[in-house]
This record gives sequence, C-alpha cells and structure tokens, in this order.
Amino acid sequence: MDAVRADNLRKTFGTVTAVDDVSIKIPEGSIFGFLGPNGAGKTTTIRMITGVLIPDSGSVRIFGTDVRRDPLTAKMKMGVIPENGTVYSDLTAVQNVLLTGKFYGMDKTVRERRAEEIIARLGLSERKNDIVRTFSKGMRQRISIASAIIHSPPLLILDEPTTGLDVYSRRLVIDTIRQMNSEGSTVLLTTHNIEEANALCSDISIINSGKIVATGSPEKLKKTFDTSRYIEISFDRTVGPDIFSAPGINRAEPWGDKWRIYSDDPDIAVKHLVHVAEREKLAFVSIRTSNPTLEEAFVKLTEGA
Ligand SMILES: Nc1ncnc2c1ncn2[C@@H]1O[C@H](COP(=O)(O)OP(=O)(O)O)[C@@H](O)[C@H]1O
Ligand SMILES: [Mg+2]
Repeated sequence: MDAVRADNLRKTFGTVTAVDDVSIKIPEGSIFGFLGPNGAGKTTTIRMITGVLIPDSGSVRIFGTDVRRDPLTAKMKMGVIPENGTVYSDLTAVQNVLLTGKFYGMDKTVRERRAEEIIARLGLSERKNDIVRTFSKGMRQRISIASAIIHSPPLLILDEPTTGLDVYSRRLVIDTIRQMNSEGSTVLLTTHNIEEANALCSDISIINSGKIVATGSPEKLKKTFDTSRYIEISFDRTVGPDIFSAPGINRAEPWGDKWRIYSDDPDIAVKHLVHVAEREKLAFVSIRTSNPTLEEAFVKLTEGA
C-alpha cells in the first residue's frame, strides 16, 4: 500500500495558483523528496497532505485513509514538522515532547521512556529541563522533530527540515530522518537544497510554479537531463579526430592537450577508445568521464520560470 497517495491536488489563493494538479504516490518505506525553488508550492502541498488546508479539488490518502473523511485516523499515522516548527516556548524541552506523546494517547511510562531516548538521540539531554524560549533555532527544530516522532509514526512529514540550521543541528536532523526510515517510517520531506535531496531521497518530485515537472530517483533524473556527457582523454602522442569516429560517438573535440569525446552511451565510447588505443598502439595518459549532476537537471527543469 502507498504511504501517501495524493490525486490532482489544486489550490489557488486569489489569482495565484499555488498548487496546480499535483499527484504523488509514495511507496511505503521510501524517503520521498519534494524539491523546488521558493514559492514553488511545496508548503501548500504539504499542508493539504497533512489535512490542515482544504484543497480546491483533489484528494489525499494516508495508508489508505482519506484525510478529509477521516482526519483523526490519518493524523494518528503521521508525525509532522511544519515549515517553522511547532514548539511551546514556555514549556521545557521534555515537557514539549511528552505533551505530544499525550496527544497521541501514549501510556505514561512508554512516553517517558521514549521521550528520554529521542531527546538523547537529538543531542538535547543536557538541556531537557530548560525552557524552550532560550533555545537556538537548531535546538527548537530538534525539539519539533522529537515531538513529531514520539509515537514512532509510520509516516514522517518534514517541510524544509534543515533550512537555516547550524551544521551540528543539520547533521542530527538528517541522521534522525535516516534512522526513522531504517526503523520503518516512510518519509516525505521538502527541500530547496539539491544536495540534500540527492543524499537523502530514494525518489524525488521536482515542483515548479505549482506543477510537478519530473519524478524519479536522483540517478534517473540526472540521466534524463544529461545531454553533455563526455570522456576526456589524452594519449602519449598526437592523434587526429578521425580515429574517434564510430557508431555511438557523437563528436570529438580537441580540448587543450586532450580530446573530448561526446557520447550518449559512455560504455560504448570507452570500449571503442580502448579498441582504438590497442589498434593504434597508443597509451592512455589520462581519462576522465564527466558526471551529470542533479543540479543540471534541476536548472533545466526550473529555468525560465
Ligand atoms: N495563505 C496564502 N495566501 C496567499 N498566497 C499564498 C498563501 N500560501 C502560499 N501562497 C502563495 O502560493 C505560492 C506557493 O507558496 P508555498 O507553497 O509556500 O511555496 P514553497 O513552500 O514551495 O516556497 C507562492 O506564490 C505563495 O506566495
Ligand atoms: Mg515552503
């Protein structure tokens, strides 16, 4: 069963179409990322998925439960960390975490044990009895996450969980996301940070101007938009361009003291180059392949918007 299934979500604010026909399916067990620039519609989509914002049209199911028809059942299955977190400033760290445990109907001894464990995991044991008002942004975000995961939700939803955090908090947040996933939680997160999406997510939807423009694994997205793959080589003596011509090689370009060989299929190109080198008794001095980046894919998909 899909952990999240959203069909044809749409939301307009006045004249702005914030979310324009967005559908996603998130298989159980995955870490799914919504990647897009600011204003793309990520938060609006998350708010509809978590049931805090009613869509103009479309529907959302969380492990099969319709969020509009049965919000309580759906919400029991999620832990949500909204864009700016939610912490009670006048409570201590541990009180914040215990309070959500209580909301979720957890038994007192269970929630106390779990709160201790999560607070330690998030590096807050020493500050657990301090009032949250005095905490840094990173510490508040860690409390927000601790509160959201106290009941070990099968679905964890985080809206830009690391934006604006210090390096230490960021690492703890990412480690916690990974750990929750390895313990069985499906994760849905949003980010405008391509490297983060690449490092964390098994699947990504790129969203721009309210629309999903591509979906797939980071590797697949890199490949789809890879138009500029080449192999850069040099031999121990000067060669002409004609030795490179072969099926599967698009063109060869002199590049300083090297050659750049453009190909849609690096496997064919490398095998051809080895063959040529043997035939012509050339020795490789250097060989390097270009790697497509997710950044290139992202820029191509969102440029001009
Ligand atoms: N409550 C609101 N009222 C009016 N416009 C909104 C509201 N929420 C979001 N928007 C607009 O919808 C668009 C998408 O916003 P948002 O979902 O917050 O994007 P993201 O989270 O990707 O940065 C933006 O143009 C934003 O200004
Ligand atoms: Mg947002």
